[in-house]
Amino acid sequence: MVKPSTVLVVDDEPGIRQSFKMVLKDRFNVILAQDGTAAVDLLTRNSVDLILLDILLPDIYGLDLLQKLKTIDPGPEIIMVTAVKEIKTAVNAIKLGAYEYIIKPFLVDDVINIINRALEKHRLQKEVTFLKTELERFQPFEEMVGENEEMKKIFDFISTIADSEGAALIQGESGTGKELVARAIHRLSSRQDKPFVVIPCAAIPQTLMESELFGHQKGAFTGASRTTTGKLELADKGTVFLDDIDTLDISMQAKLLRIIQEKEFERIGSTKVIKIDVRFVASCNKDLKSLIKEGKFREDLYYRLNVYPIFLPPLRERIKDIPLLVNHFLSLNAKRTGKPLKFFSGGALQLLQEYDWPGNVRELQNLVERCFTVSKNAMIRHQDLSYLNTKKTRIRGLPLKEAVSLFEQQYINEVLESVDGNKSKAAMILGVHRNTLIAKSPPQKK
Ligand SMILES: Nc1ncnc2c1ncn2[C@@H]1O[C@H](COP(=O)(O)OP(=O)(O)OP(=O)(O)O)[C@@H](O)[C@H]1O
Ligand SMILES: [Mg+2]
Repeated sequence: MVKPSTVLVVDDEPGIRQSFKMVLKDRFNVILAQDGTAAVDLLTRNSVDLILLDILLPDIYGLDLLQKLKTIDPGPEIIMVTAVKEIKTAVNAIKLGAYEYIIKPFLVDDVINIINRALEKHRLQKEVTFLKTELERFQPFEEMVGENEEMKKIFDFISTIADSEGAALIQGESGTGKELVARAIHRLSSRQDKPFVVIPCAAIPQTLMESELFGHQKGAFTGASRTTTGKLELADKGTVFLDDIDTLDISMQAKLLRIIQEKEFERIGSTKVIKIDVRFVASCNKDLKSLIKEGKFREDLYYRLNVYPIFLPPLRERIKDIPLLVNHFLSLNAKRTGKPLKFFSGGALQLLQEYDWPGNVRELQNLVERCFTVSKNAMIRHQDLSYLNTKKTRIRGLPLKEAVSLFEQQYINEVLESVDGNKSKAAMILGVHRNTLIAKSPPQKK
């Protein structure tokens, strides 16, 4: 049998308490409180689904009690019980989160109806909360997909380290999903409701970096016409994402190291020490170890950042994820545009898995969007992707001589493309005479 819902009745008049009990006892489990103190005590010790709350109580004002009860347990719906002259207060109670109010004297049927409606809302809310947690359990990374073993290990690692304090360093080629990982770390941590602040190290001119990070005092330097708050201060209690950390110049690296260690700094032009509580996550697409060898990156900063290292493999090393990613992006496009879903044929997916993806997941995402927009048919076929330069597919099955010549042609095209068609430059890169290159180049389009 389903357990009956528990209703807590809070009223100082014994007659009213008893009449509620009489009316409700057959359908609900009823508990009674004669004042605010008893109500707080009962709510702390019992699992309650609904509260009937008198506005005028001897020991505490009804609206204050309403807020207090909500902080003890925000779950139960609260219905205010009021006399006609207190209707204004009852309306305010609704603004503070009460579900409804009933006016004394009341009709039994009305009370039962309101209670049933409130309990139904309560039940649906519980269900939504439950479904949300279930969803998070099976899809912790919302917009991040991957079933390749390496990626599964990475997802697992992210969940494990998300709520710790040490910095995480995410390394991977451009477009492999570094920012997505940084955001997932933040979202899975207890800092999730606080700011996630991105510092795009490569995009901020180094001369402005210090002011961007620390803020400055009015008059600190020429042009500092007002005091500004730095991004570190804005990120307090949240996560700071230092994107492309390898581009940070060496003097800023020293300052950053101090902040990561001490969690304090001063605004430019001020001596006041500002303390912050932030979690650092950094990304880079260069090998930091070799930058250290070249003297371009501080080793001590590297160790501070690299408490939790995450390496995102390039897409060409996780080609089994390509069909999954393609479907993910297709459905995102369909959702965004409201157009019907399209799909890639088996042959097209095969072709995508033979391409090298220098721009990684971002390049794939762009290709899917292009196909989704341009294709007139629901199915995107192998032929629609013939422009993809997959050496493997073209060369497979050809006699050696033809394969070599095809490869040569493709290579020349690639080099020419990379120098915007400048034949002298291309010839230099290829180490051949310009005339040789002209002879081997595709004829110019008229
Ligand atoms: N595993 C994934 N699942 C779904 N989408 C992904 C995945 N990885 C990357 N993406 C998408 O690919 C794009 C590039 O990802 P992101 O910006 O995180 O890459 P990045 O490594 O920071 O690139 P860059 O070094 O160029 O800044 C984004 O639009 C992101 O949503
Ligand atoms: Mg990025």
